[in-house]
Amino acid sequence: MNYIGLGSKHKSRGVAANFIVKIVINNQELSVEAGSTVLEAARAHGIDIPHLCYHPALTPYGACRVCLVEVEKNGRKQITTSCTYPVGEGLVVRTNTEEVRAARKFTIGLLLSRAPEAETIKKLADEYGVEPGLERGEDADGCIRCGLCIRVCRELMGHEAIGFINRGAERIPETPFLEDNPDCVACGACAYLCPTGYIKVIDDTTRKISSWHKEEGLAECRECGRRFAPARLLHKVKENLRDLEISDILDLCPECRREKEIKTLNVVEDR
Ligand code: SF4
Ligand code: FES
Repeated sequence: MNYIGLGSKHKSRGVAANFIVKIVINNQELSVEAGSTVLEAARAHGIDIPHLCYHPALTPYGACRVCLVEVEKNGRKQITTSCTYPVGEGLVVRTNTEEVRAARKFTIGLLLSRAPEAETIKKLADEYGVEPGLERGEDADGCIRCGLCIRVCRELMGHEAIGFINRGAERIPETPFLEDNPDCVACGACAYLCPTGYIKVIDDTTRKISSWHKEEGLAECRECGRRFAPARLLHKVKENLRDLEISDILDLCPECRREKEIKTLNVVEDR
């Protein structure tokens, strides 16, 4: 089994911030920050480009290919992923030509065959006129291999609980050796960002994330006794925030925390 990471932990594009270049998107001349990507530049100017594997807080990965656009540089045109293509002086971008829409439609068809039940993909398929009834792929397991789960775990949580295993059609995010990885604190950030719902988090007396073979105890609220947060995650948060001296608030569930805040506000107002 090959366990494959996703490259660098932090974004670094090596371009001085605040350096501005001029580009044209859909016949509109725009001033954009050098070092940004076409997708970031478009979003900054309210130009919509569909995307599934991009998140502003994470390193671009270019996996889903839904964000395809046409770029023209020095007279040469190509269709490419806008989330990974850097802007440059004089770049011309077209986001909605017939060719671009056809390329996106093809990509969306492939994604639909992998995740036929996913609402986000079904919505895109509707929008782009992808024929329903397309063959379910052999790999129709609901995961589109976008890598968001792996990147959020590594880049924002600072853990390496999951990674891609295998290659080709067998490639899938998993834990090493398909076992519970103690590095996973069951934060659920992966499930929150997953565009297809492949990762299910079930909270009861424990938190279960079956995709990662994980079952983690939930800590009890100090006031009401309700189980509300994965115990090891809570411990980590308390460690990281210990200088703020708020650990007694962190021991409360969200409802009890709100009640405590309201009581504190009332006391202040009554003075
Ligand atoms: S599990 Fe979800 S977030 Fe992770 S690669 Fe698959 S589709 Fe993307
Ligand atoms: S958003 Fe660009 S390839 Fe997925």
